[in-house]
Amino acid sequence: MSEFDPTILHEAAIPPPEEFSSRARVSSITEYDALHRYALEKPEEFWGEQGQLIEWITPPEKTLEWKLPHAQWYVGGKLNVSYNCVDRHIAKHGNKPALLWEAEDGTAIEFTYCELRDLVCRFANAMKDLGVKKGDVVAIYMPMIPELPIAMLACARIGAVHSVVFGGFSAPALADRIHDAKCKLLITADGGYRRGRVIPLKESADEALKSCPTVKHMVVVKRTGEPVAWQQGRDLWWNELVDQFPETCEPEVLDAEHPLFILYTSGTTGKPKGVLHTSAGYLVQCTWSMQNVFDLRDDDIFWCTADIGWVTGHSYIVYGPLSNGASVVMYEGAPDHPKRDRFWRIADRYNVTIFYSSATAVRAFMAWGKQWLEGHDISKIRLLGTVGEPINPAAWKWYYEVIGRKQCPIVDTWWQTETGSILISPLPGATPTKPGSACLPLPGIAARVVNMQGEPVKPGETGYLVIEKPWPSMLRTIYGDDERFRRDYWSRIPGAYFTGDAAQCDKDGYFWVLGRVDDVIKVAGHRLSTMEIESALVSHPSVAEAAVVARPDEIKGEAIVAFVTLRAGQNPTPELKNHLSDHVSKIIGTIARPAEVRFADLLPKTRSGKIMRRLLRELAQKGGISGDTTTLEDIGAIERLAQQKGQEE
Ligand code: WTA
Repeated sequence: MSEFDPTILHEAAIPPPEEFSSRARVSSITEYDALHRYALEKPEEFWGEQGQLIEWITPPEKTLEWKLPHAQWYVGGKLNVSYNCVDRHIAKHGNKPALLWEAEDGTAIEFTYCELRDLVCRFANAMKDLGVKKGDVVAIYMPMIPELPIAMLACARIGAVHSVVFGGFSAPALADRIHDAKCKLLITADGGYRRGRVIPLKESADEALKSCPTVKHMVVVKRTGEPVAWQQGRDLWWNELVDQFPETCEPEVLDAEHPLFILYTSGTTGKPKGVLHTSAGYLVQCTWSMQNVFDLRDDDIFWCTADIGWVTGHSYIVYGPLSNGASVVMYEGAPDHPKRDRFWRIADRYNVTIFYSSATAVRAFMAWGKQWLEGHDISKIRLLGTVGEPINPAAWKWYYEVIGRKQCPIVDTWWQTETGSILISPLPGATPTKPGSACLPLPGIAARVVNMQGEPVKPGETGYLVIEKPWPSMLRTIYGDDERFRRDYWSRIPGAYFTGDAAQCDKDGYFWVLGRVDDVIKVAGHRLSTMEIESALVSHPSVAEAAVVARPDEIKGEAIVAFVTLRAGQNPTPELKNHLSDHVSKIIGTIARPAEVRFADLLPKTRSGKIMRRLLRELAQKGGISGDTTTLEDIGAIERLAQQKGQEE
């Protein structure tokens, strides 16, 4: 793990602003310490108490049943997640805005909790009428429009399991995911808007369904009004459908461990894995973390800028905030459309008080400059958050000074699709923050940095980040592949959950997450697998072999570099490079498009034939090789690659 830079550990801690602490839910580090100690010593008592944050139909009999690696939380409890996120707030907050939606063209639509309940119920009834039953999997492939959270909550209401596929994925990627989960229904839109352009989602959905016989119906939201192909009997317009159904729908009584959703994410192989989350544990921990990490109050306006197609949007646009009866801003489009001040314009318009975004976005804001804030009053923001990748101290400080006016704490939240909710983060009224560090584990989270044998490493040494005890919102399995669940997460370090991240702890016990130790890369916060991109490249008829690595990128965190050997007779032209990048976009989505394609006559391999990605990484990052090459089969391969780069420059 020597490629990680250990020099980031010397940031002085910034105490939370007094004014913030005095009103916060957890208001001092002593209070945090006591809570953390109690939660670690008595996890079942602690999480049992947090279980009361949600409303039960039948309360649980037992907090935890743990047979490594399988956990059941809140055993015997019955609940309905959509009831918890919608109905239970109606008495007190029926007319409070649940969703404040802004279209890319500036149109604003507000949905109160009462309105949200009616819409969720209508659509839940419609799905039932289409034959969707408890336990069926429903694919959702949508732009950032209100029907997306409505569809998710409607699934939760009837006990269907949603599988949201990010709208930026291509038809083959959508088809793979539908296939794997054997979805019965697909919900999409005719299209979406991105920087004023129409993204033809229905077209991709049609393409995907050619190879998905399990899908009987496709419900289509009319968003753009562009003409679309139509398959009579299979395709149904959302608005025509919901109008036929009543606005009440009794929530299904569901077991605590009833599956709530599958969310596909990239792992170390080419095949994405369906991370399975269940109902009660996930909801409890989302509700708890929403309250405590974001110090949520009744009058807050919370804006998480993520796309709901990723876990951040699931947990902190939909389930966490709505379970707390919060008002959530949801924005359809791009941050720089029509101009680079869009986010500040939105923050001003809705009086946003809590702003949660990605490290990539912060770096982009910093690059664009503070002049974009002029004319926008963002003084209502009282707390800032970041997620997705390590945030470098310089970007953190810019965020703190320019957006936060040195008055807002920053919560750098570490978590994963698999963890379901935030696990390592400051508590904003309690934890002194260090720029670049996710700070301390949340109460109840047994995080540690260890070596391969599971022994803690010394402060300042790099090791693997693991979680040593189960937590309520943990993934339960990989859908349809429990063996992979065991192998990927529970067999690397004995007895602990393996996160796949490298990290260091400093002498104060602060966590510094350095990045992945596997073949997962993060491009603009989007999680991608190098293997998935390699298989996309190799599926092209000109390509013999491909190896994909990441190089650091100032804004996006990481950028994709693909080394490609061509089949005999293929010409290594610049046009072909472009064409191969387009091919990857077509197979996976534009998020996976390589920033750079480099042709190689041979890829560097070990004597046993394994591609030496470490060398390629070094080459992509530094332009040359200094590391150990003793196991390299053909030293000439790497020399030729290095020379070739020199010639191109
Ligand atoms: C990385 C996103 C450093 C990490 C919620 C993790 C972070 C992966 C942080 C999960 C952070 C997320 N600091 N690294 N605050 N947050 N990561 O599944 O490598 O898309 O393993 O979940 O993102 O990505 P995923």
